[in-house]
Amino acid sequence: MSSLLILLAFNVSTAFQVKEVNEVLKWLPEHEHASVTRKKYVNDQRLAVGSLLLRRYFVSKYLAMPWHDIQFDRLPGGKPTLACPDGQYLDFNISHDGDWVVLVSTMTRKLQVGVDCVSIKTLKDPVNTFVDCFQYQLTLSERQTIFNGQDEATQLRAFYQIWGCKESYTKAIGEGLAFDLQQISFNNHPTERWIECQHGNQLQVTWMYHVSDLDEKTAVVICCGDPSASSLDHRLRDFGHMTRRIGEPYVSPTDAFTRLTLNDIHQQYLRNTHC
Ligand SMILES: CC(C)(COP(=O)(O)OP(=O)(O)OC[C@H]1O[C@@H](n2cnc3c(N)ncnc32)[C@H](O)[C@@H]1OP(=O)(O)O)[C@@H](O)C(=O)NCCC(=O)NCCS
Repeated sequence: MSSLLILLAFNVSTAFQVKEVNEVLKWLPEHEHASVTRKKYVNDQRLAVGSLLLRRYFVSKYLAMPWHDIQFDRLPGGKPTLACPDGQYLDFNISHDGDWVVLVSTMTRKLQVGVDCVSIKTLKDPVNTFVDCFQYQLTLSERQTIFNGQDEATQLRAFYQIWGCKESYTKAIGEGLAFDLQQISFNNHPTERWIECQHGNQLQVTWMYHVSDLDEKTAVVICCGDPSASSLDHRLRDFGHMTRRIGEPYVSPTDAFTRLTLNDIHQQYLRNTHC
């Protein structure tokens, strides 16, 4: 998978003490500071700064660009992007929630990636009351998949996994919130370890979904595909076959991400900064 997708994860709760957010802000260009400092809650600040650090670390390390020369942009729908040097191709996507920031990237031309990381909350209400709040985003078969779960914890996990699949696709295509989530419907393949997506009346054949667990309360879904292709790259297919099935209970971390520490990022910053 390393040749096709780069997967990075950064745990902000182990990385930061409160004062360190201000400290690491100095590693980032000033125009990026406001998106961190305007956040009211400390954990949101940690996630925001983690998100900015992780993408800069990634470009600096994998595209060998000088740390301070990197300039990100956004596509019209809001997806962050980077103008690559020498006609290189890059697509990447970031997600953050709870303790984690994750980045998924590909340099394989035409492939698009999306990622969604979701912290599974403890509910005060029964799961069905919670799931009912999303009746306009979920399909009938997705509701059936969720409520086939043997207990409330499994049902809630299944809901978040399905939600992650939906968001990862909308993020891969760059539409985000603008996309009608009820147009896509996710289910386990009846016999294989594989997540199927029905888009309207058609089964998607050029997209792969991979669900895993960063820790007991954090699920992450990777979506990758080439909408202009007629079939899926065999390496993506192999990776997709390693997914967790929707509703599978948590056992232990199952992700394929490289876990970074704040020190890894700091070292890259020091190595790759103009003196
Ligand atoms: C982008 C979006 C789809 C995802 O938001 P989210 O799930 O709240 O947040 P995530 O952490 O997964 O993603 C945020 C990141 O996505 C990226 N992003 C923003 N817009 C994007 C777009 N149009 N396409 C792809 N990626 C996008 C950004 O990098 C952003 O991080 P940053 O602000 O630190 O740069 C957003 O439009 C949204 O608000 N979605 C619906 C949220 C919702 O209803 N959640 C309920 C869950 S139970």
